[in-house]
Amino acid sequence: MKNNCNIKSQEICLVKNHENPALICNSILVEIDSIQKFISSIIEERYPDLNEHQTRISKNAALFAQHIGLSQQDNECLIIGASVHDIGKMSISDYILNKPAPLSRSEFSLVKQHCEYGYNLLTPLKLCSSITEIVLYHHENYDGSGYPEGLSNEDIPLLARMVRILDSYDALTMDRPYHKGVSSKNALKIMKQDMNCYDPYLLDSFSKVIEKHKIIQ
Ligand SMILES: [Fe+2]
Repeated sequence: MKNNCNIKSQEICLVKNHENPALICNSILVEIDSIQKFISSIIEERYPDLNEHQTRISKNAALFAQHIGLSQQDNECLIIGASVHDIGKMSISDYILNKPAPLSRSEFSLVKQHCEYGYNLLTPLKLCSSITEIVLYHHENYDGSGYPEGLSNEDIPLLARMVRILDSYDALTMDRPYHKGVSSKNALKIMKQDMNCYDPYLLDSFSKVIEKHKIIQ
């Protein structure tokens, strides 16, 4: 998919009045940053832990992007996409999201739908396609065993492959209702054993980011 956004602003038509030019006010410019903050405040209200997870990921995303040498536009899309990647979980029940035990198969099937839910929620905003692709594809695995579409290798958009790594790292290092977080070193070790999930080049780069910035979680 092509990246076709103006990263700084999106034109959103609110009112159309072609009868009286003096009253024409057919668009406003909304900063993407404002949309992202708005989304974060909604998530914070309902799932503060989820908002913290996304905020941590977006901070690490900035370091990762810098290390990889992404363009300014991809850099910003990565940070914004990382900060809203799980927005689809707003459509999942509290019971499942807060369950202090491993999910059943049917519950996990429901959770897996958060990628599509999130994509559908964001689509009307006509955001940069790189951002919505992160939301849709951040659980795709490099070997094609992920979801929702089972994409593999370079068919998974680059920024989504990066968020796949950032997301797993955060999930492993932070305490969750059903498991205790592991050290950064152990998290990277586990991820390297699970190589089928991640782009090997990106995982190696991310390890260097952790090493360089001593991100201890
Ligand atoms: Fe997710």
